[in-house]
Amino acid sequence: MAIPVEMKDLTFVYRGARKPAIKNINLRIMNGEFVVVTGPTGCGKTTLCRCFNGLIPHFHHGKMIGQIKVNGVETRERKVSDLSQTVGFVFQDPENQLVALNVERELAFAPENLGLPREEIKARVEEAIEMVGIDHLRSNAPYELSGGEQQRVAIASVLTLKPSILVLDEPTSNLDPVSAKKVVILLKQLNKEYGMIIILIEHRLDLVAPYSSRVLVMSNGEIVVEGEPRKALSNDYVEKLGVGIPRILKLFKGLGVVRDGQNLPLTPDEAIRILI
Ligand SMILES: Nc1ncnc2c1ncn2[C@@H]1O[C@H](COP(=O)(O)OP(=O)(O)O)[C@@H](O)[C@H]1O
Ligand SMILES: [Mg+2]
Repeated sequence: MAIPVEMKDLTFVYRGARKPAIKNINLRIMNGEFVVVTGPTGCGKTTLCRCFNGLIPHFHHGKMIGQIKVNGVETRERKVSDLSQTVGFVFQDPENQLVALNVERELAFAPENLGLPREEIKARVEEAIEMVGIDHLRSNAPYELSGGEQQRVAIASVLTLKPSILVLDEPTSNLDPVSAKKVVILLKQLNKEYGMIIILIEHRLDLVAPYSSRVLVMSNGEIVVEGEPRKALSNDYVEKLGVGIPRILKLFKGLGVVRDGQNLPLTPDEAIRILI
């Protein structure tokens, strides 16, 4: 089976820019993964994610060197509209993504644009409503919804294209902590129950690291640290970059109570297990 995402020495320079926004990225993402991408503002997270669904190089122009393949095919050779059926992309601000008068119409929009038969469109809308748990919102207008509800609708509207990979660019940054947590739990459910690959750009690591299988830390356009979240986020270099590492991990690192070979905790529950 083809590798879901494979980047080889991928570098991209936006048109008119003097230096690359991402450089020499080598990355493979496999089935079942929940990847968190983090790093200081301007380090290239959004640029990296624009490569997964072909927005780079097809929509944002510039010079792309190296290679990115999705399911074994170079994105250069595929249209964004084709790629959107493999890679769903959810933006930071759902308001910009929602266009229709009610939620059901919103969800039908993308499959209608594919020219699918009516029955198929209906089935996909129902499935997305079920997956995301928004049955009670189906007749509401997107602008009447709370930020968290809008973000769920934005996710559902992408799911109607049946992607196997979901990329989300800081989807919780405008949400309160409770709504943000609900969105992250939904992503974990899509990952576990539906086997979707999740690629999540996020700086609230307290919130997302416990759900992730791998963390990528970027700086200056490069992936500088990556790995299992407890290990990657224990790295001193990550703290120096100003990445907001989980407080509990920082505390336990400082206390020095974790034995050699044992992982630092990401959550209070993990911390308690270390102490007892
Ligand atoms: N559309 C664009 N055109 C030109 N430069 C861009 C564009 N988008 C981002 N950049 C530049 O690329 C670099 C990386 O930005 P970005 O990928 O948005 O970082 P992040 O998402 O980590 O904040 C920055 O220097 C930014 O100014
Ligand atoms: Mg960004």
